[in-house]
Amino acid sequence: MSPDDLKTLVRTVPDFPAPGILFRDVTTLIGHGAGFAACIGHLAERTAAAGAEALAGMEARGFIFGAGAAARAGLGFLPVRKPGKLPVPTIGVDYALEYGQDRLEIDPTAVLAGQRIAIVDDLIATGGTALAAADLLRQAGAVVTHAFFVIDLPDLGGADRLRAAGLTVDALMQFP
Ligand code: PRP
Ligand code: ADE
Repeated sequence: MSPDDLKTLVRTVPDFPAPGILFRDVTTLIGHGAGFAACIGHLAERTAAAGAEALAGMEARGFIFGAGAAARAGLGFLPVRKPGKLPVPTIGVDYALEYGQDRLEIDPTAVLAGQRIAIVDDLIATGGTALAAADLLRQAGAVVTHAFFVIDLPDLGGADRLRAAGLTVDALMQFP
């Protein structure tokens, strides 16, 4: 299935999780066997073409696509977690979301010095989540040059913020 076909599988829910937010819900995409497989295939191809040596995905929705793409590309997967989940000393960053505040943490020993790690998430809105993840991975010694998303919401400016931070951004589809 092409990215244009995959776009028809994303459900839009108004006013979630707060009034005025148009929530782009990937539940319907991952629930479609052929659609989910095609989505993982596109991400795996693109991450491999970028020369990534490992993929990192952000909890929770980034785990679905990042882990799938990593397995398909034969790469390891590094989970970027919400606070208090990792059983070892972590480094963390607080960041703002389209609808709130959050924090991400990683195990810095999971990164090899100079390792080329690409970021994968379901969606980029303001870019706060992806920038926090890139910051953490770079602090731990990774070389982070690419970030891959299923969905980009260009009106929220996140992809431009990532490009300004030196990242190449690639998304399978854009809304609206
Ligand atoms: C969503 C989405 C991205 C992030 C994008 O995650 O999965 O990670 O928001 O927004 P941003 O570009 O403005 O940072 P959320 O924090 O809602 O968590 P979830 O994956 O656990 O649903
Ligand atoms: N994460 C941040 N903004 C979002 C949106 N509009 N839809 C789905 N996930 C999001």
